[in-house]
Parts: sequence; C-alpha cells; structure tokens
Amino acid sequence: MTILSNGHLWKYSEFIANKNYSFEKEQILKSLSKKEIDDAYLSIKEWNGYSPTPLINLNKLSHELNLNKILYKDESKRFDLKSFKALGGAYAVQKISKGDKNIIVSTATAGNHGRSVAWGAKRLGLKCKIFISEFVSEARGQAMATLGADVIKVKGNYENSLIECIKQSTENNWQIVQDVAWDNYLLVPKYTMAGYSVMMKEIADQLDSNKITHVILQAGVGGMAAAMIAGIARYLKNIPTTIVVEPDSAACVLESIKTGKIEKIDIKRESLMGGMSCGEVSLVPWEILKNSVNYCISLPDDDIAKTMKLLGNASFSDEKIIAGENSAPGVISLIASCEDQKLKKKLNLNSNSNVLVIGCEGDTDQEMYKKLVNQN
Ligand SMILES: Cc1ncc(COP(=O)(O)O)c(C=O)c1O
Repeated sequence: MTILSNGHLWKYSEFIANKNYSFEKEQILKSLSKKEIDDAYLSIKEWNGYSPTPLINLNKLSHELNLNKILYKDESKRFDLKSFKALGGAYAVQKISKGDKNIIVSTATAGNHGRSVAWGAKRLGLKCKIFISEFVSEARGQAMATLGADVIKVKGNYENSLIECIKQSTENNWQIVQDVAWDNYLLVPKYTMAGYSVMMKEIADQLDSNKITHVILQAGVGGMAAAMIAGIARYLKNIPTTIVVEPDSAACVLESIKTGKIEKIDIKRESLMGGMSCGEVSLVPWEILKNSVNYCISLPDDDIAKTMKLLGNASFSDEKIIAGENSAPGVISLIASCEDQKLKKKLNLNSNSNVLVIGCEGDTDQEMYKKLVNQN
C-alpha cells in the first residue's frame, strides 16, 4: 500500500444486507419503463452541448486495493452544471412544458436540482421560481439567479421551502418540478429519474469487454440510485452487486431496507454530503430499491475532505478529478469495505472485481470545495 497506508483507517458506520433482495429486471422496469428510459436518452442526446461524461479508471486505487478495475463516472463534466442533476430537473421541465412557452415552473431545492430546473427553464425560455431554505449557501442561490430564476429564500429547512413552494405554486398556477414524489405527484419525479438513467446508457456504451461486478450508488431520497438500477435493468446483460451509500446522519434507505418499509429519519446533524442529507426515501425510488439493493452502507463525514483531496491531486488515477462532497462516498465506502477483510470477503471484492462508482458532482459550490481540499 502506498496511497492509503499512513495509519489512517477509512471508516464506515453501518453495513447491512437486504433480506428481501431479488433483482428482477421486469419488476424494476415496471416502475421506470424501458420507454421512459429510452425517451429520456433520445431527447437529452440532442440537447445543445451534450456529450457523455468520462468514465475514468482509478487505476492507482484499484491496484492498491487489489481489484481489477474501479470505474469512476465523472459528472463534474455534465454540461456546465457540474452534476448529474443536470439530467433530471431540466428533462422534467422539458416534459411538463410540452412546448408551451407560457408556463412558469417552480421547485424547492438544496441547490443542484434547482440549478437543473433553472437551466432547463432557460433553455426553453420559461420563467422559473426557485425556493431555497435559509441553509442553502449564497453561492448556490446566486448560481440559480444567474440562470435567470427568481430565487426565494424561505425561513427554516428544506421541508419549509417545499411547503412554501407548493403554496405559492398552487396560488399562482406555477408547474412544480420536484424530484421527490408524494401522493398523486409521481410523474415529474419519474421524469427526473428517467433523465438520470442516461448515465447508465453512457456507461454501457463506455464499458470495454469487462463486466461491472459491483456498483456503489449514493442516495439522498433515492432517485439517482433507483434510476441507475433501472438503467442496469435496461442496458446491462449481467446484474452487478448493488450497494447504496448514505450519510450516517440520514441513512433513510438503509433504515427502510432494514424493516422492509419506508422509515422516516429525524436528521439531528446536517452532513457535509448535503445533497444526500434526506430523511425519507421517495415513493417511486422505493418501489425499485426495496428489492434490488443488495447491501446498504452508511458513512460519517470524516473522510470526505481527504478523499476529495486525493481525487483532486491524481493520487487514485492518472488524472486530477474535481470531486464535490457528494462524489466522495462511493470511493470511501469501497476503500472502507476493502480494509475490513471480513467485509471484503462478504462482498466478494477481489482481483476479478470491476467496481463502478459515481462521481455525482464537481465543485458545484466552489468556496466549499476549496475549503475542504485545503483543510488537511
Ligand atoms: C448533489 C447531489 N444531490 C443529491 C444526491 C442524491 O440523489 P437522490 O436524492 O436522487 O437520491 C446526490 C447523490 O446521491 C448528489 O450528489
């Protein structure tokens, strides 16, 4: 070991196996259909500036962990928005606008989703209202305003911003483009997931003859993880081991997988992994995740900054990778799993393994990025 052996042990908090695991492609594609997935790709690939994001081989890290390959999907290069979220909100805006230039779209957001909605609205010349809580940074709010959105700050947390968004949107007949589902609001979150699944189409096209054996998927409300699993069902011939990773302060998928039903978490501490700090798995993702996730793992914030720095200075691959706070957990959970020999064995991680990790975002908040990578 050269990169990792400095006495530092990479930590995970909890690891569980899913008792109800059974990956059934047809069942998964009932929740997000082949047509919905294909429509998203066919639309998005025509967008101005579209090109697949890189799939980077973390060759130095795979060598050190004794794995065959670690493939890192680098979403820092996604359009100008530096996050996979660009695929979801903007696609949902396009779907619900149906070409009507007079509608006004709205959303509540912690940052990246709203940026995608604002950008999608700008693309189509639509007005856009974005609701953010008082905890969303100035920089993130400013980024959405720069895209032409009216940014409305709401006292309290994300839930409060969503309540205000629903209230004002109902009063003013604005079309809500939310990435979470609730009763009778399932279609738009599905569009966002269909947009995210484009990542798996690209990955399927980028793979050489190696099959992916393991995939590690970050989860907030579970939309991205479920979309990628639907993408696996749609595009891959084999079924890799699926692992969901979450902050230990907001492990809502892990807790739900434990009991087999949606469990709400009372978040007592906001994680650095801001986009993943969600207390409840969303309805459509849950229908997919409840059976198709093999394992869940939760992480403290401890190794986030260190991992961002190592990715950024080309310690894990031949390239420097700009990885935001929500990009690090895939790599951290892989290292932590490999350092725990029992877990490594249980997960069947060995020299034949090809592991896919998702680099969800780049420096979407540049100030935060600089602060974290310069921290240690
Ligand atoms: C920036 C960002 N937001 C949100 C999420 C979570 O996505 P979802 O809420 O769809 O699970 C992630 C990664 O999982 C992320 O990187």
